[in-house]
Amino acid sequence: MSRIVFVNGSFVPYEEARIPIMDRGFLFGDGIYEVSAVLGGKLIDNEAHLARLERSLGEIQIRNPYPAEKWIELEKEIVRRNGLQEGLVYMQVTRGVAERDFAFPKDVEPTVVMFTQEKNMRAAPAAQKGAAVITVPDLRWKRRDIKSVALLAQVLAKQAAAEAGVAEAWMVEDGKVTEGGSSTSFIITRDGTIVTRQLSTALLPGITRKTVIRLAQEAQLRVEERAFSVEEALDAQEAFLTSATSLVLPVVSIDGKPVGDGKVGPMVRRLRELYLDMADATPA
Ligand code: PDD
Repeated sequence: MSRIVFVNGSFVPYEEARIPIMDRGFLFGDGIYEVSAVLGGKLIDNEAHLARLERSLGEIQIRNPYPAEKWIELEKEIVRRNGLQEGLVYMQVTRGVAERDFAFPKDVEPTVVMFTQEKNMRAAPAAQKGAAVITVPDLRWKRRDIKSVALLAQVLAKQAAAEAGVAEAWMVEDGKVTEGGSSTSFIITRDGTIVTRQLSTALLPGITRKTVIRLAQEAQLRVEERAFSVEEALDAQEAFLTSATSLVLPVVSIDGKPVGDGKVGPMVRRLRELYLDMADATPA
């Protein structure tokens, strides 16, 4: 069975999908995207991802081509057509196709693309062993709250991570961790407080972040939203990262130095379980 993707209103085999070279996503990175996880064939935290998609579009003045109900219908359809059980749905909206000119063109239709990817998430080896990360300078622009497809700084950060043989790069600005190349960063201090950076234009408002904070608070765990330094992270008891596709992933070393005892800790294990329980309880 060929892979089925979605382009501008149609489901087509991947080989037949085409985007014109004048698409502003291609020329300017003038577009936004979302990634929703699929576990057990179900979309996880999907309404929140669609709300962030709506917000990202609004911030750069692109009309949302579909109401949420339509997005959900399309997502379920692409999951079904690809027989996806575990992985992700990727959605991208660009300003559309027009002769190259920086300012917004008039009367263009947004370009909409969706595809699925299979990914082993629940039984990912790093969930058991823990992941290593490196730190890199945060080279990004000043509106990181928008889920822009312009990801060159993250591409460079994650390439550095790949060359170092680690899972993720934690980006650092003014001595504090902003977030991972494609994930939110957390530490758990020695007194058991879960710490993650407060929301601002300096980082993406992670959907998994929000759910994990809620689940932690419901379990009577202490959560503090504030910035932390790499030194503080190295002094922490545990560390982890969250994203739609990593769920909750333990971080056991930073720049080659162990976090805590360098092993996956009990609180991260518990948070991952709480997240998986939430996913399992999600209606189809
Ligand atoms: N990335 N921070 C950044 C910079 C991200 O790109 C992502 C997600 C996150 C986590 O957000 P969420 O929990 O909503 O997935 C934080 C996606 C998965 C990606 O680019 O593939």
